Amino acid sequence: MTVIFQEQEVSPPGSCVDAPTKLQIRDLRVTFSSRGKNFVAVNGIDLEVRDGEFIAIVGPSGSGKSTFLMALDGLTPSSGGEIAVDGKVVTGPGRDRAVVFQDSCLLPWRNVLDNVSFGLEMAGMPKGERYEIARELIGLAGLTQFETFHPKQLSGGMQQRVNIARALAADPQVLLLDEPFSGLDAQTREIMQGELLKIWDERKKTAIFVTHQIDEAVFLADRVIAFSARPARIAGEWSIPFPRPRHLSIKQSPEHRALEDSIWQVVRQEGALAAA
Ligand SMILES: Nc1ncnc2c1ncn2[C@@H]1O[C@H](COP(=O)(O)OP(=O)(O)OP(=O)(O)O)[C@@H](O)[C@H]1O
Ligand SMILES: [Mg+2]
Repeated sequence: MTVIFQEQEVSPPGSCVDAPTKLQIRDLRVTFSSRGKNFVAVNGIDLEVRDGEFIAIVGPSGSGKSTFLMALDGLTPSSGGEIAVDGKVVTGPGRDRAVVFQDSCLLPWRNVLDNVSFGLEMAGMPKGERYEIARELIGLAGLTQFETFHPKQLSGGMQQRVNIARALAADPQVLLLDEPFSGLDAQTREIMQGELLKIWDERKKTAIFVTHQIDEAVFLADRVIAFSARPARIAGEWSIPFPRPRHLSIKQSPEHRALEDSIWQVVRQEGALAAA
């Protein structure tokens, strides 16, 4: 199998360049068993993520991106290697990490305020305190006027903003996002990309964002990583040089397009290998 490794000769922008390591992944392996047979979904991934860094992961369907993210969250056990947050080895889910999935899974009988503060309520935080935290995040997500609305009264984009606010409520160190905008139309998706960057910039979280949209990956990330066809390895890595804050218009620039092309080549090749 051909491995293409490409690296732009540029430094990642932003304040995270000299930041300490937040997330350390060493030789990570994930194996599933099915009908008495084992198959490897993730095969020896090494990755070091700096505090406050925004990483986007792309790769063919079925390559192991969600599995990788679930292993980082601790929901899927690894079968080899190590994951550490701030030097502390991950052995299961913890409050230092939070996940946002593609499908909004808000509690339908709770309003926005009670959805965002749900995790804090479960942790036993008094109402006044948890509402204060939730209201701040709802404001950051631009939903102050909607805090008494229930999920079915919100658009898909608004629901995903509530999901992001909810994930941030417990003040996690690392935000894991698995195709959070893939159910949205193209225009809402672009708005959400800008909103996410605003929230990320305000809260200075370390983010790992899985997407199939290469332009989204380049626009959002400090670093884009392409996974190989399953079992997932790192097939390519690109530092994204655009300064922040970023405006959507940079997507039209030749530099942005060139990066997209370069990433596409690797993803397409890996996709062809997956289909072979
Ligand atoms: N719980 C599980 N048990 C068995 N096999 C699984 C499980 N979860 C995922 N897999 C398998 O692991 C491989 C990687 O799946 P994964 O969902 O991580 O891919 P992906 O890169 O996220 O794909 P997509 O882009 O389509 O979301 C697939 O072959 C899938 O069938
Ligand atoms: Mg997936």
